[in-house]
Amino acid sequence: MQTFDLIIRNGTVVTAVDSVLCDVGIREGKIAALGTALGSATREIDATGKLVLPGGIDSHCHIEQPRADGTANADTFESATTSAAFGGTTCVICFSPQFKGHGIAERAADYHLRAKKAVIDYSFHIIITDPSATVIEQELPPLVAAGHRSIKFFLTYEPSFLTDGEVLTVLAAARKNQAFVVIHAENHEAIKWMTARLEAAGLTNAKYHAWAKPALVEREAIQRVIALAELVDVPIQIFHVSSEEGAEEIRRAQGRGLKVYGETCTQYLAFSAADLDRAGQEGSKFLCSPALRSTADQEALWKHIRLGTLGVVSSDHAPYQFGGPKGKQAIALESPFSKIPNGVPGLETRMPYLFSEGVGKGRIDLQTFVAITATNPARLFGLHPRKGSIACGMDADIGVWDPELRRTVHNSDLHHAVDHTPYEGMSLTGWPVATLVRGQVVMEGGTRGVEPGFGQFQARGIYPLMLPRNEFPTPFNPHE
Ligand code: URP
Ligand code: ZN
Ligand code: ZN
Repeated sequence: MQTFDLIIRNGTVVTAVDSVLCDVGIREGKIAALGTALGSATREIDATGKLVLPGGIDSHCHIEQPRADGTANADTFESATTSAAFGGTTCVICFSPQFKGHGIAERAADYHLRAKKAVIDYSFHIIITDPSATVIEQELPPLVAAGHRSIKFFLTYEPSFLTDGEVLTVLAAARKNQAFVVIHAENHEAIKWMTARLEAAGLTNAKYHAWAKPALVEREAIQRVIALAELVDVPIQIFHVSSEEGAEEIRRAQGRGLKVYGETCTQYLAFSAADLDRAGQEGSKFLCSPALRSTADQEALWKHIRLGTLGVVSSDHAPYQFGGPKGKQAIALESPFSKIPNGVPGLETRMPYLFSEGVGKGRIDLQTFVAITATNPARLFGLHPRKGSIACGMDADIGVWDPELRRTVHNSDLHHAVDHTPYEGMSLTGWPVATLVRGQVVMEGGTRGVEPGFGQFQARGIYPLMLPRNEFPTPFNPHE
């Protein structure tokens, strides 16, 4: 009879295709058996009445991301990844930034040191803001070869945004080095122009953030970057799609057979532009980019999740404080909306919100929930088949969920280092009661089970979804 390190008994094991009542046997950090009457184990978890889900993968979160001035946002790798684990997430992909005029190799080395405090597994996207010849030809190839297999760039934000020519340079470099590309797509000049006019008119409150960047600035940038990616034949994912018109651009490209993938984030489903207009400076808690939209956009995003246009829902966790001298509140009091830090925290609430509002309210089924929170990001970013599902041989990254557990979100119960949550007071049904990473219980019954440093860097190799189609708009292959 087989023996295991751990058996999770009597739960319903859910993957992106199946729900099956069976036990999970774990040995040496891997899923070793699925079945009934599995034999004995050093430890057992009784999952009667519970769901046994793949650990969540949050492929877009800003954790301890340094800024050029030497500061970082509120969370450390320890606090952010602890928070993630309490929300059922077992692996994060965060960002090693480039500061304009500097390289990417030194930053990545520094970021690896910061990440050594992680309690769950992690990987990095490399942000490129300045595609100099040194960066593209000398620094990027070894970083990709070492497993940093995705590059991010921005089409907005001063001084980070790339021009169209720079976009083509980075896309071509990604193709050459076999890296995937993720994009923050908004039209920089349009936002700059609108912001100047709004502020000159005295319209400076947080609510005008949404007026400065209506959905069309997202739609235009998505359409443009898809065209540029098509020109050079490079698969891409559009980050944080906020609007129906943005999603429709992606759907159109997918309909033409392009390898264009879409991501939205929990906040675009949960909140609308009306939240930016909350009394006092409360609206600043909801200020993120792209801006929050209408309730009709929220329902359209759910529709595009169901259709598969938006295959990944991440948190875009951006841990800026509300209080304190540099917090959103103080800045919103003294300065126009354009100076308020962009982004909202959400690592811990991402999966419970999607479970409660998605599965619980019939908007998506359990299989779609698993797909958008774990399997799809694992496949899209090269973590699959190591992670992202429940099958023999995979890492035992698992969330045991109580689908009936109802909790009201209070920031004081969350584990991030941020002083607020936009989800404060929301009642959510369905929470993880235990989270396992590589077979180790990282969270159970409200307690963390591992020390900082347990998390491991996940190097990512070449995988099918990132490979180009080898189709160009003309007979000329610009890469040869
Ligand atoms: O407002 C946002 N999304 N902040 C985080 C940084 C980014 O743009 O992804
Ligand atoms: Zn972004
Ligand atoms: Zn982001």
